[in-house]
Amino acid sequence: MIPAYSISKAAGSNLTQSLRSLLKSQGVTVHGVFLGPIDTDMNRGLEIPKAPPAAAAQGIFDGLEKGEEDIFPDPASFPAAEGWRAGIAKRMGFLYQQQPEQLDHDRKATEQEGTLTKPPITARWSGFRIQKISPPPMNSRSLPGFTIEGRIGGAPPKQQEDNMHSLASKTMVVIGGSRGVGRQIVEAGIRNSARVLAVARDEGRLARVAREVPGTETLSLDATDEAAPAKVFGVLKPDILVVAAGAFPPTAPLHKQNWHEFAVNWESDVKIAFHFVKAALSTPLSAGSTIVLISSGAALAGSPNSGGYAGAKRTQIFMANYSQKESDRLGLDLKFLVLAPRMMPDTELGKHAVAGYSHYLGISASDFIKSMATPPTSSDVAAGVIELVTRPNRPKESVFIVTGKGLEAVAA
Ligand SMILES: NC(=O)c1ccc[n+]([C@@H]2O[C@H](COP(=O)([O-])OP(=O)(O)OC[C@H]3O[C@@H](n4cnc5c(N)ncnc54)[C@H](OP(=O)(O)O)[C@@H]3O)[C@@H](O)[C@H]2O)c1
Repeated sequence: MIPAYSISKAAGSNLTQSLRSLLKSQGVTVHGVFLGPIDTDMNRGLEIPKAPPAAAAQGIFDGLEKGEEDIFPDPASFPAAEGWRAGIAKRMGFLYQQQPEQLDHDRKATEQEGTLTKPPITARWSGFRIQKISPPPMNSRSLPGFTIEGRIGGAPPKQQEDNMHSLASKTMVVIGGSRGVGRQIVEAGIRNSARVLAVARDEGRLARVAREVPGTETLSLDATDEAAPAKVFGVLKPDILVVAAGAFPPTAPLHKQNWHEFAVNWESDVKIAFHFVKAALSTPLSAGSTIVLISSGAALAGSPNSGGYAGAKRTQIFMANYSQKESDRLGLDLKFLVLAPRMMPDTELGKHAVAGYSHYLGISASDFIKSMATPPTSSDVAAGVIELVTRPNRPKESVFIVTGKGLEAVAA
């Protein structure tokens, strides 16, 4: 009912996680407070149960005394605490509390092997080690045939794993289809016999895709433009709409950025997703269509060197959730999916992020890449999209982390 409010609070929460990660090594604890409805002016006139402000304030101090990082201080916030602690925060807890020791152990082992002489600064950046978690977190499960343990024995190699004609007679639009992840998805769509339209701004790059991936249709436009979806759907109305376009995030810690730099992914990634999910619902796309947003693993783990990037990518997850609810309410039979890949060093955006983080941490790009546990490639993400859209039955889950080992469904 109040999407912009929840989205801005989600961004605040993501910032909390990023700061927590950034400042942990300096002994600073960053707390997040998650209030339920409180009896203040903001809620005046709302006929809902509200906690007295004094009780909420007391709850915050109690939480601090108990050493809680995420504090749910009033009775109305207790049910949310349960879901939070059993779900995504459980995973974050693994990352923040156990990673430094694990990383230190890894570093010692690596130093003994003589391959790394730098200090253990990667301990500050825990987000990439998700595959080290064992057993897998409670709120995730692997997909048959595409599991976090690896592909099921005897499965064909990645390039051949598409079902060749599984998308025959389907139309596919890829926003951001001229390079990186989007281009791999375009290629996978063509290999699977879909009719594919690649959309991006740079005409030269699009011409190259059309030349190198025969059969691909192209359209040059700026997807942040409000009129973009109507133009795209006028050329090809998609059964499968993939929104992969996004801007290079800033590569500096929070205090070294201005607002314009911090907000760059909100003005691009969030805006593009907003225009296209809105158009998917209001056009609407045909019943049975699938909309796939390419978010990022940073949406769940935070990314302290990338300004508003993690919050923007988290917002894309919210937008998909909200859109799914609206589709269900309106009986449109659309399916909204989100893929959240970990950092992919093989794309231009990924190389930019690797350069930013290695500079931030004071290590070489190759050492930084070595510190990442099974990063995905752009073709892993494309394989994940094909896997999800060609299943005979739609997956129940809607948000999937992508690593080099495959897809992992998460409750987010
Ligand atoms: N690479 C990673 O490590 C990584 C990790 C997790 C998530 N992701 C996400 O995955 C998505 C794709 O990333 P990538 O690494 O493939 O990026 P990339 O190599 O930079 O490709 C981005 C694509 O989007 C297009 N694009 C950007 N802005 C656009 C706009 N305003 N209108 C139309 N097209 C636009 C680009 O073409 P033009 O510039 O010609 O328009 C290009 O085709 C992004 O949303 C990114 O946040 C990336």
